[in-house]
Amino acid sequence: MTASIRPAVGAPHARIWGVGGYRPVRVVPNSELIERIDSSDEWIQSRSGIKTRRWANDEETVAEMSIAAAGKALAHAGISADQVGCVIVSTVTHLKQTPAIATEIAYRLGAGGGRAAAFDVSAACAGFCYGLTLANDLIRGGSAEYVLVIGVERLSDLTNPDDRGTAFIFGDGAGAVVVGPSDVPGIGPVVWGSDGSNSEAIEQTESWEELRDNAEATFPTLRMEGQKVFRWAVWEMAKVCKEALDAAGVAVGELDAFIPHQANMRITDAMIKALQLPAEVPVARDIAESGNTSAASIPLAMERMLETGEAPSGGTALVMGFGAGLVYAGQVITLP
Ligand code: COA
Repeated sequence: MTASIRPAVGAPHARIWGVGGYRPVRVVPNSELIERIDSSDEWIQSRSGIKTRRWANDEETVAEMSIAAAGKALAHAGISADQVGCVIVSTVTHLKQTPAIATEIAYRLGAGGGRAAAFDVSAACAGFCYGLTLANDLIRGGSAEYVLVIGVERLSDLTNPDDRGTAFIFGDGAGAVVVGPSDVPGIGPVVWGSDGSNSEAIEQTESWEELRDNAEATFPTLRMEGQKVFRWAVWEMAKVCKEALDAAGVAVGELDAFIPHQANMRITDAMIKALQLPAEVPVARDIAESGNTSAASIPLAMERMLETGEAPSGGTALVMGFGAGLVYAGQVITLP
């Protein structure tokens, strides 16, 4: 007789219960960068909206920033690390191929008594929304009660200070959320996908093999076809935003906040226009002070909007990440 397998029993729904961020101490204004790229503060602000970014010091490692952000998110949620069954770390700047940085972070936090499941996700600037999607499904599928999703980057490690197209864009930081069970839906259906035909649009300049085999190779950095990424983001990502709203059954006018990935202020403005977002809906503009922090940008912006009172706790927000891969993911959420 075939054994019958008892199915995992999950929560009816999931939501974000807490958010926390870590911003490196060092603030880097445009004036520090412009000489090497023959640029100006005015040019950078008008093309990207960026005034400053944070760059991590030697002590502000991927693990340290993550632990600081996660600690704040756990406190905000009122959840102990013991209760966390899984730690997901979205990052493209943990510069060691294996093991995943998530295991060290989980252990040091004491997640699940130091034994929580833990893994990294590589989905660049969509990494936070990818992690959130996994957390939602893990909780509803019964694989974990609480999941910590961390987006963290030290992009300064992979930035070429002489590259005019990227030197001013990227920043460092970490943002984390605690996702857990809920009686009502707090994370709407995800609209996500990828476009590998444009995988070279944002990429690491050399692979690790090239670095090993080519004596001339220098340490890799990130390169970007700025105009291609800009066009893709403006045209395609507004459609994804609309699909995510439709999938959740939420009208654009019902939003209490729009928190897109902080890629570029002009991309955000173009999405607002395409979405016909009512002027009274607050929009995350953390990029002005933080630059583009890839997987960290949405939780960092979310924390700021809640702290400043721009967005209400318990309100409805649209989050949307997009970037290297190319990859994207968007969903409607209830704010913690
Ligand atoms: N400072 C000053 N001038 C610069 C410059 C810089 N850093 N970089 C380029 N320029 C100049 C060019 O030389 C060119 O001058 P010209 O018209 O006299 O030839 C002009 O600005 C336009 O160059 P271009 O490379 O076409 O710039 P752009 O308008 O595409 O702007 C970005 C560059 C990077 C700001 C823009 O492409 C962008 O925002 N892309 C999306 C980036 C993004 O959001 N990435 C994150 C996705 S996750």
